[in-house]
Amino acid sequence: TQHLLGIKDLTKEDISLFLDTATQFKEVLQRPVKKVPSLRDVTIVNLFYENSTRTRISFELAEKRLSADTINFTASGSSVAKGETLLDTVNNILSMKVDMVVMRHSASGAPHFLAQHVPAAIINAGDGVNEHPTQGLLDAFSIREKLGKLAGVKVAIIGDIMHSRVAMSNIYLLKKMGAEVTVCGPPTLIPKYIREVFNVNVSYNVEEALNWCDVANVLRIQLERQNQVLFSSLREYNLSYGISRKLLDRLKKEVVIMHPGPINRGVELDSDVADSGHSIILQQVENGVAVRMAVLYLLSNRNN
Ligand code: CP
Repeated sequence: TQHLLGIKDLTKEDISLFLDTATQFKEVLQRPVKKVPSLRDVTIVNLFYENSTRTRISFELAEKRLSADTINFTASGSSVAKGETLLDTVNNILSMKVDMVVMRHSASGAPHFLAQHVPAAIINAGDGVNEHPTQGLLDAFSIREKLGKLAGVKVAIIGDIMHSRVAMSNIYLLKKMGAEVTVCGPPTLIPKYIREVFNVNVSYNVEEALNWCDVANVLRIQLERQNQVLFSSLREYNLSYGISRKLLDRLKKEVVIMHPGPINRGVELDSDVADSGHSIILQQVENGVAVRMAVLYLLSNRNN
């Protein structure tokens, strides 16, 4: 069984195949009839142990556009509250003839654990601070769509790098595809080893990073994953690292602004930037459906 557990495991060719297939599905999604029969009689469970708006809806819509049957499971309101384990939960769902599992979990490695223990294709929809591979793919798709390429593109990932699975999947993917990456944020939110291990540049100055890059992928401060205070206040974060119209106006060039969502407006990104012509944030969300259709289609046994 094939899985999508992380970008770390993919080759450059795998990534190109996902992105090229997503381009074809994006064309399908522009038609008056958006639905194709590719996954008819395939049953998919969306298993969400952690909150989500975009990823959950995007997967469900991708599944419906492919004519799959879908079930949505959220841990809250389920028998998880009565003590049922992850493995028991999934085995019970699979016994009802479910073929594929899309899973979000707060524990890093949870989808890898499942992949070793159940006979279904597992797709990681975000695991703890580890990876969010479909977000990495949709971000790359959106950059390639906007700038026509990935190789040589300069991407600054700005914000809470330490707690971000989006940063991890973006770094793996962009480096494999020949893009240049700078991570930028307060020193307390950037792992010390990141430069050596991932071959990325590090900047603690947001204006410097913005002057360097073609694309800024701006991340939320993930207070829910921080077990200690890593900077003094959100107000201070906004003053030092927040991206404002005034800051963008000082640059000598255009920068494409991205954000995986949800945005904390007025913290990492001001509204007049998030909603400006520089921003491709809603295009990212739109592209997520085509990218997830490509992932589901390629990992199903219907494409061979
Ligand atoms: N980008 C993203 O993962 O958003 P959600 O948490 O709303 O799914």
